[in-house]
Amino acid sequence: MTSVGEIVSALAERFDRAGIASALADAELVVGHVTGWTRGEVATKAFMGVDLDEATVTEIDTLATRRESREPLQHITGESPFRHVVLSVGPGVLVPRPETELVAEWAIDALRQVPSPRPRAVDLGTGTGALALALATEVPTSEVFAIELSTTAAEWAARNIARYGDGRVTLVIGDAASALPELDGTIDVVVANPPYIPDSEKPADTEVVGYDPESALFGGGDGLRDIRTFIARAARLLRPGGTLVVEHGDGQGAAVRAIATSAGFSMTTTHTDLLQRERALTAVR
Ligand SMILES: C[S@@+](CC[C@H](N)C(=O)[O-])C[C@H]1O[C@@H](n2cnc3c(N)ncnc32)[C@H](O)[C@@H]1O
Repeated sequence: MTSVGEIVSALAERFDRAGIASALADAELVVGHVTGWTRGEVATKAFMGVDLDEATVTEIDTLATRRESREPLQHITGESPFRHVVLSVGPGVLVPRPETELVAEWAIDALRQVPSPRPRAVDLGTGTGALALALATEVPTSEVFAIELSTTAAEWAARNIARYGDGRVTLVIGDAASALPELDGTIDVVVANPPYIPDSEKPADTEVVGYDPESALFGGGDGLRDIRTFIARAARLLRPGGTLVVEHGDGQGAAVRAIATSAGFSMTTTHTDLLQRERALTAVR
């Protein structure tokens, strides 16, 4: 028998040595995934001196070895919490980022203010369906369209939309530049998290480089190639007065505002996250 506390400490130490910043949290989450306990329950059971049987310890060790090699925790557990939903994730799709939850919030706020019984939104480059599902679940009167170019990513979106979409989220596999042309001029809110890392900038974390698809990360020489495409399409999709919310990288605020202005948007505003990094543009058609 090994106690929960001993396992958590041992895992946290291994993860720390492997260079994982969130070592203790990941240790508790791996133990929680195998035992079916929440992170809080793991901490409580560690405090109470609860023991684990050998089979459970072996299973935890197998997953811990994967995490030690810097496989993303979300690939190991197969899921990623995003606002009020828990998304299925895995190879071929970007793991949704916590900072994108803030982008979702700005889009949700805009969608809630639409004076229509059935406000309509489009999520360009939906990946797991994270933004589309945040909008649909938090604005229950809304109708949401999710467009994704990668068929592999779209399979993850389809799975998540089947679970949470409530019949109000339509997924289309296609190019954000041209898919669903019949929606042009009818949409209240367009939200997007395009690939925006310049091709020459290699992300530092193994979890990103080794596992997130390159087509979800890199946006050409200046990082703005897909932002230009998505903003141009948003200008066509939105009705006059509709709102655009686009995530972008720190330091891209001025360039993205200029792109939106030349595409015909007004009230272009750059928003920062809690660490004061430029994070997203909002603009009005
Ligand atoms: C940074 S990821 C964002 C995924 C998801 N929206 C999120 O926030 O977690 C960008 C997504 O856009 C997709 N994508 C890139 N170019 C596209 C295009 N031209 N049309 C549609 N989707 C595209 C990628 O395959 C990827 O899934």
